[in-house]
Amino acid sequence: MKKQICKIISNKKISKDIFLLELENKYLAEKSKAGQFVHVLVPAQNAEDKAPFLRRPFGVNLVDKKKNKISLLYKVIGSGTKLLSQTQKGDALDVMGPLGNGFEIKKAKEHIIISGGMGIAPLMQLVKEIKEKKAGKIHLYLGAKDKNEIVFVSYLKKLADEIVITTDDGSIGEKCLITMPAEKLLKQNLSAKIYACGPYPMLKCVAGLAKKYKIQAQLSLEEKMACGVGVCLGCPIKIKTKQGDIYKMVCKDGPVFNAEDIIW
Ligand SMILES: Cc1cc2nc3c(=O)[nH]c(=O)nc-3n(C[C@H](O)[C@H](O)[C@H](O)COP(=O)(O)OP(=O)(O)OC[C@H]3O[C@@H](n4cnc5c(N)ncnc54)[C@H](O)[C@@H]3O)c2cc1C
Ligand code: FES
Repeated sequence: MKKQICKIISNKKISKDIFLLELENKYLAEKSKAGQFVHVLVPAQNAEDKAPFLRRPFGVNLVDKKKNKISLLYKVIGSGTKLLSQTQKGDALDVMGPLGNGFEIKKAKEHIIISGGMGIAPLMQLVKEIKEKKAGKIHLYLGAKDKNEIVFVSYLKKLADEIVITTDDGSIGEKCLITMPAEKLLKQNLSAKIYACGPYPMLKCVAGLAKKYKIQAQLSLEEKMACGVGVCLGCPIKIKTKQGDIYKMVCKDGPVFNAEDIIW
Protein backbone atom coordinates (compact mmCIF):
# COMPACT_ATOMS: atom_id res chain seq x y z
CA MET A 1 0.00 0.00 0.00
CA LYS A 2 1.30 3.43 -0.95
CA LYS A 3 0.02 6.95 -1.24
CA GLN A 4 -0.74 7.47 -4.92
CA ILE A 5 -1.36 10.59 -6.94
CA CYS A 6 -4.03 9.60 -9.45
CA LYS A 7 -5.22 11.44 -12.51
CA ILE A 8 -8.97 11.77 -12.78
CA ILE A 9 -10.09 10.33 -16.13
CA SER A 10 -13.74 11.20 -15.50
CA ASN A 11 -16.16 11.92 -12.66
CA LYS A 12 -19.70 11.52 -13.93
CA LYS A 13 -23.10 11.64 -12.30
CA ILE A 14 -24.83 8.38 -13.24
CA SER A 15 -27.95 8.60 -11.08
CA LYS A 16 -29.47 10.83 -8.40
CA ASP A 17 -26.53 11.74 -6.07
CA ILE A 18 -24.45 8.83 -7.41
CA PHE A 19 -21.15 9.36 -9.24
CA LEU A 20 -18.66 7.14 -11.05
CA LEU A 21 -15.07 8.33 -10.62
CA GLU A 22 -12.47 6.84 -12.96
CA LEU A 23 -8.81 7.14 -11.92
CA GLU A 24 -5.64 6.43 -13.84
CA ASN A 25 -2.95 4.77 -11.72
CA LYS A 26 -0.80 1.76 -12.64
CA TYR A 27 -0.05 0.68 -9.06
CA LEU A 28 -3.69 0.70 -7.92
CA ALA A 29 -4.83 -1.10 -11.08
CA GLU A 30 -2.16 -3.78 -10.63
CA LYS A 31 -2.65 -4.34 -6.90
CA SER A 32 -6.38 -3.85 -6.21
CA LYS A 33 -8.75 -6.77 -5.84
CA ALA A 34 -12.45 -7.16 -5.11
CA GLY A 35 -13.44 -6.04 -1.62
CA GLN A 36 -10.42 -3.81 -1.00
CA PHE A 37 -10.86 -0.09 -0.57
CA VAL A 38 -8.98 3.16 -1.07
CA HIS A 39 -8.73 6.16 1.22
CA VAL A 40 -9.21 9.43 -0.62
CA LEU A 41 -7.98 12.85 0.48
CA VAL A 42 -10.76 15.08 -0.82
CA PRO A 43 -9.44 18.45 -2.04
CA ALA A 44 -11.13 21.82 -1.58
CA GLN A 45 -12.51 23.21 -4.81
CA ASN A 46 -12.13 26.91 -4.01
CA ALA A 47 -10.85 29.26 -1.31
CA GLU A 48 -14.18 29.27 0.63
CA ASP A 49 -14.30 25.45 0.92
CA LYS A 50 -12.85 23.67 3.90
CA ALA A 51 -11.31 20.39 2.71
CA PRO A 52 -12.09 17.51 5.10
CA PHE A 53 -9.14 16.79 7.40
CA LEU A 54 -9.75 13.03 7.29
CA ARG A 55 -9.60 10.86 4.21
CA ARG A 56 -12.82 9.17 3.02
CA PRO A 57 -12.95 5.40 2.33
CA PHE A 58 -14.45 3.97 -0.89
CA GLY A 59 -14.55 0.40 -2.15
CA VAL A 60 -12.71 -0.43 -5.37
CA ASN A 61 -15.60 -0.58 -7.83
CA LEU A 62 -13.92 -1.91 -11.01
CA VAL A 63 -10.31 -2.52 -12.05
CA ASP A 64 -8.95 -2.35 -15.58
CA LYS A 65 -5.33 -3.56 -15.47
CA LYS A 66 -4.78 -3.06 -19.21
CA LYS A 67 -5.77 0.60 -19.05
CA ASN A 68 -4.15 1.23 -15.61
CA LYS A 69 -7.54 2.32 -14.36
CA ILE A 70 -9.72 1.84 -11.30
CA SER A 71 -13.16 3.26 -10.67
CA LEU A 72 -15.01 4.29 -7.52
CA LEU A 73 -18.79 4.41 -7.31
CA TYR A 74 -20.00 6.78 -4.60
CA LYS A 75 -23.06 8.50 -3.26
CA VAL A 76 -23.02 12.14 -2.18
CA ILE A 77 -24.10 12.14 1.46
CA GLY A 78 -22.07 14.84 3.19
CA SER A 79 -19.39 17.50 2.78
CA GLY A 80 -16.57 15.17 1.65
CA THR A 81 -18.51 13.37 -1.06
CA LYS A 82 -20.02 16.69 -2.19
CA LEU A 83 -16.53 18.13 -2.74
CA LEU A 84 -15.43 14.88 -4.40
CA SER A 85 -18.34 15.18 -6.85
CA GLN A 86 -16.96 18.59 -7.91
CA THR A 87 -13.53 17.25 -8.92
CA GLN A 88 -12.99 17.10 -12.66
CA LYS A 89 -11.26 15.30 -15.47
CA GLY A 90 -7.51 16.04 -15.37
CA ASP A 91 -7.43 16.88 -11.64
CA ALA A 92 -4.94 15.06 -9.42
CA LEU A 93 -6.30 13.08 -6.47
CA ASP A 94 -4.33 11.84 -3.45
CA VAL A 95 -5.40 8.23 -2.86
CA MET A 96 -4.05 5.70 -0.37
CA GLY A 97 -4.48 2.07 -1.26
CA PRO A 98 -5.37 -0.59 -1.96
CA LEU A 99 -6.32 -1.17 1.70
CA GLY A 100 -7.90 -4.07 3.58
CA ASN A 101 -8.16 -7.74 2.76
CA GLY A 102 -10.85 -8.17 0.09
CA PHE A 103 -13.02 -11.17 -0.74
CA GLU A 104 -11.63 -14.68 -1.06
CA ILE A 105 -12.95 -16.36 -4.20
CA LYS A 106 -13.06 -20.15 -4.22
CA LYS A 107 -14.82 -22.38 -6.75
CA ALA A 108 -18.42 -23.17 -5.80
CA LYS A 109 -21.49 -24.35 -7.65
CA GLU A 110 -23.34 -21.14 -6.86
CA HIS A 111 -22.17 -17.71 -5.68
CA ILE A 112 -24.92 -15.69 -4.03
CA ILE A 113 -24.05 -11.99 -3.94
CA ILE A 114 -26.31 -9.73 -1.89
CA SER A 115 -26.09 -5.96 -2.17
CA GLY A 116 -27.88 -3.23 -0.25
CA GLY A 117 -27.78 0.33 -1.60
CA MET A 118 -24.23 1.49 -2.31
CA GLY A 119 -23.03 -1.99 -1.27
CA ILE A 120 -23.04 -2.67 -4.99
CA ALA A 121 -19.87 -0.52 -5.37
CA PRO A 122 -17.30 -3.15 -4.26
CA LEU A 123 -19.50 -6.09 -5.33
CA MET A 124 -19.23 -5.19 -9.04
CA GLN A 125 -15.53 -6.11 -9.11
CA LEU A 126 -16.37 -9.30 -7.20
CA VAL A 127 -18.92 -10.31 -9.86
CA LYS A 128 -16.30 -9.56 -12.55
CA GLU A 129 -13.58 -11.63 -10.82
CA ILE A 130 -15.88 -14.64 -10.21
CA LYS A 131 -16.86 -14.54 -13.89
CA GLU A 132 -13.25 -14.19 -15.10
CA LYS A 133 -12.15 -17.09 -12.88
CA LYS A 134 -15.10 -19.20 -14.08
CA ALA A 135 -15.57 -19.96 -10.38
CA GLY A 136 -19.29 -20.84 -10.56
CA LYS A 137 -22.79 -19.60 -11.25
CA ILE A 138 -23.54 -16.03 -10.10
CA HIS A 139 -26.84 -15.05 -8.46
CA LEU A 140 -26.92 -11.31 -7.85
CA TYR A 141 -29.44 -9.86 -5.42
CA LEU A 142 -29.72 -6.06 -5.61
CA GLY A 143 -31.69 -4.29 -2.92
CA ALA A 144 -32.08 -0.52 -2.57
CA LYS A 145 -34.24 2.27 -1.20
CA ASP A 146 -35.52 3.14 -4.68
CA LYS A 147 -34.74 2.79 -8.39
CA ASN A 148 -32.11 5.57 -8.30
CA GLU A 149 -29.78 3.30 -6.34
CA ILE A 150 -30.12 0.39 -8.77
CA VAL A 151 -27.28 1.07 -11.21
CA PHE A 152 -25.27 -0.74 -13.91
CA VAL A 153 -27.94 -3.42 -14.36
CA SER A 154 -27.26 -3.93 -18.08
CA TYR A 155 -23.50 -4.30 -17.42
CA LEU A 156 -24.15 -6.75 -14.58
CA LYS A 157 -26.63 -8.77 -16.65
CA LYS A 158 -23.75 -9.70 -18.96
CA LEU A 159 -21.82 -11.21 -16.04
CA ALA A 160 -24.42 -12.68 -13.69
CA ASP A 161 -26.54 -15.78 -14.38
CA GLU A 162 -29.44 -14.29 -12.45
CA ILE A 163 -30.31 -10.82 -11.16
CA VAL A 164 -33.07 -10.19 -8.62
CA ILE A 165 -34.01 -6.61 -7.71
CA THR A 166 -36.05 -5.31 -4.78
CA THR A 167 -36.68 -1.78 -3.52
CA ASP A 168 -38.22 -0.36 -0.35
CA ASP A 169 -40.71 1.70 -2.40
CA GLY A 170 -41.33 -0.80 -5.23
CA SER A 171 -40.12 1.72 -7.86
CA ILE A 172 -38.22 -1.16 -9.47
CA GLY A 173 -38.39 -4.89 -8.69
CA GLU A 174 -40.45 -6.36 -5.87
CA LYS A 175 -41.33 -4.11 -2.93
CA CYS A 176 -39.61 -5.98 -0.10
CA LEU A 177 -36.25 -6.49 1.57
CA ILE A 178 -33.60 -8.14 -0.63
CA THR A 179 -33.00 -10.84 1.98
CA MET A 180 -36.53 -12.21 1.34
CA PRO A 181 -35.99 -13.48 -2.25
CA ALA A 182 -32.41 -14.42 -1.30
CA GLU A 183 -33.79 -16.73 1.40
CA LYS A 184 -36.05 -18.45 -1.16
CA LEU A 185 -32.91 -19.43 -3.08
CA LEU A 186 -31.04 -20.48 0.06
CA LYS A 187 -33.91 -22.82 1.00
CA GLN A 188 -33.05 -24.92 -2.05
CA ASN A 189 -30.18 -26.48 -0.15
CA LEU A 190 -27.50 -25.28 -2.55
CA SER A 191 -23.79 -25.86 -2.53
CA ALA A 192 -23.04 -22.15 -2.42
CA LYS A 193 -21.01 -19.25 -1.06
CA ILE A 194 -22.53 -15.96 0.04
CA TYR A 195 -20.99 -12.48 -0.24
CA ALA A 196 -22.69 -9.30 0.93
CA CYS A 197 -22.16 -5.57 1.36
CA GLY A 198 -24.73 -3.06 2.50
CA PRO A 199 -26.35 -1.54 5.58
CA TYR A 200 -25.67 -3.12 8.97
CA PRO A 201 -29.22 -4.57 9.49
CA MET A 202 -29.06 -6.26 6.08
CA LEU A 203 -25.64 -7.75 6.85
CA LYS A 204 -26.87 -9.00 10.24
CA CYS A 205 -29.83 -10.65 8.52
CA VAL A 206 -27.53 -12.25 5.89
CA ALA A 207 -25.33 -13.59 8.72
CA GLY A 208 -28.45 -15.16 10.28
CA LEU A 209 -29.45 -16.76 6.96
CA ALA A 210 -25.93 -18.09 6.42
CA LYS A 211 -26.03 -19.73 9.85
CA LYS A 212 -29.55 -21.12 9.32
CA TYR A 213 -28.70 -22.69 5.96
CA LYS A 214 -25.10 -23.59 6.91
CA ILE A 215 -23.50 -21.65 4.07
CA GLN A 216 -20.21 -19.74 4.36
CA ALA A 217 -20.70 -15.98 4.03
CA GLN A 218 -18.19 -13.16 3.61
CA LEU A 219 -19.50 -9.76 4.66
CA SER A 220 -17.94 -6.42 3.79
CA LEU A 221 -18.45 -4.06 6.74
CA GLU A 222 -18.46 -0.28 6.94
CA GLU A 223 -17.19 1.71 9.90
CA LYS A 224 -16.31 5.36 10.18
CA MET A 225 -12.58 5.52 9.58
CA ALA A 226 -9.75 7.91 10.39
CA CYS A 227 -6.29 6.48 9.57
CA GLY A 228 -7.53 3.55 7.44
CA VAL A 229 -4.45 1.45 8.23
CA GLY A 230 -4.97 0.04 11.74
CA VAL A 231 -3.07 2.72 13.68
CA CYS A 232 -5.72 4.93 15.33
CA LEU A 233 -7.84 1.97 16.61
CA GLY A 234 -10.92 3.92 15.53
CA CYS A 235 -12.84 1.18 13.69
CA PRO A 236 -13.07 -1.79 16.07
CA ILE A 237 -15.31 -4.82 15.65
CA LYS A 238 -15.71 -7.72 18.09
CA ILE A 239 -14.70 -11.06 16.59
CA LYS A 240 -14.90 -14.63 17.92
CA THR A 241 -11.66 -16.59 17.91
CA LYS A 242 -10.61 -19.92 19.44
CA GLN A 243 -8.76 -17.92 22.12
CA GLY A 244 -11.89 -15.92 22.97
CA ASP A 245 -13.49 -12.69 21.78
CA ILE A 246 -11.10 -10.02 20.52
CA TYR A 247 -11.33 -6.67 18.77
CA LYS A 248 -10.18 -6.38 15.18
CA MET A 249 -9.96 -3.27 13.02
CA VAL A 250 -12.35 -3.05 10.07
CA CYS A 251 -9.79 -1.10 7.99
CA LYS A 252 -6.79 -3.41 8.49
CA ASP A 253 -8.28 -6.82 9.30
CA GLY A 254 -11.37 -6.31 7.09
CA PRO A 255 -13.43 -4.81 5.66
CA VAL A 256 -14.40 -8.37 4.68
CA PHE A 257 -15.05 -10.78 7.57
CA ASN A 258 -16.50 -14.27 7.81
CA ALA A 259 -20.09 -13.88 8.98
CA GLU A 260 -19.75 -16.60 11.64
CA ASP A 261 -16.88 -14.74 13.35
CA ILE A 262 -18.72 -11.44 13.84
CA ILE A 263 -20.25 -10.62 17.23
CA TRP A 264 -23.24 -8.40 16.38
C1 LIG B 1 -14.46 0.39 3.75
C2 LIG B 1 -15.49 1.36 3.27
C3 LIG B 1 -15.84 1.38 1.94
C4 LIG B 1 -16.80 2.29 1.47
N1 LIG B 1 -17.12 2.26 0.17
C5 LIG B 1 -18.03 3.13 -0.31
C6 LIG B 1 -18.34 3.13 -1.70
O1 LIG B 1 -17.78 2.37 -2.49
N2 LIG B 1 -19.26 4.03 -2.13
C7 LIG B 1 -19.88 4.90 -1.26
O2 LIG B 1 -20.73 5.68 -1.72
N3 LIG B 1 -19.60 4.91 0.05
C8 LIG B 1 -18.68 4.06 0.54
N4 LIG B 1 -18.37 4.10 1.87
C9 LIG B 1 -19.00 5.13 2.74
C10 LIG B 1 -18.26 6.44 2.51
O3 LIG B 1 -16.95 6.33 3.02
C11 LIG B 1 -19.01 7.57 3.22
O4 LIG B 1 -20.24 7.75 2.58
C12 LIG B 1 -18.20 8.86 3.13
O5 LIG B 1 -17.02 8.76 3.89
C13 LIG B 1 -19.03 10.03 3.64
O6 LIG B 1 -18.24 11.18 3.57
P1 LIG B 1 -18.89 12.64 3.61
O7 LIG B 1 -17.83 13.58 3.98
O8 LIG B 1 -19.63 12.91 2.34
O9 LIG B 1 -19.98 12.53 4.70
P2 LIG B 1 -19.88 13.04 6.21
O10 LIG B 1 -20.20 14.49 6.20
O11 LIG B 1 -18.64 12.57 6.86
O12 LIG B 1 -21.04 12.25 6.81
C14 LIG B 1 -22.36 12.39 6.37
C15 LIG B 1 -23.19 11.29 7.01
O13 LIG B 1 -22.69 10.00 6.65
C16 LIG B 1 -22.36 9.22 7.78
N5 LIG B 1 -21.09 8.50 7.48
C17 LIG B 1 -19.88 9.03 7.30
N6 LIG B 1 -18.96 8.08 7.03
C18 LIG B 1 -19.62 6.91 7.04
C19 LIG B 1 -19.23 5.56 6.83
N7 LIG B 1 -17.96 5.20 6.60
N8 LIG B 1 -20.19 4.61 6.90
C20 LIG B 1 -21.45 4.92 7.16
N9 LIG B 1 -21.88 6.19 7.36
C21 LIG B 1 -20.99 7.17 7.31
C22 LIG B 1 -22.21 10.21 8.89
O14 LIG B 1 -22.58 9.60 10.12
C23 LIG B 1 -23.15 11.33 8.52
O15 LIG B 1 -24.45 11.07 8.97
C24 LIG B 1 -17.43 3.20 2.38
C25 LIG B 1 -17.07 3.19 3.73
C26 LIG B 1 -16.12 2.27 4.18
C27 LIG B 1 -15.75 2.25 5.61
S1 FES C 1 -9.42 3.74 10.86
FE1 FES C 1 -7.69 3.83 12.17
S2 FES C 1 -7.61 1.81 12.93
FE2 FES C 1 -9.16 1.70 11.43
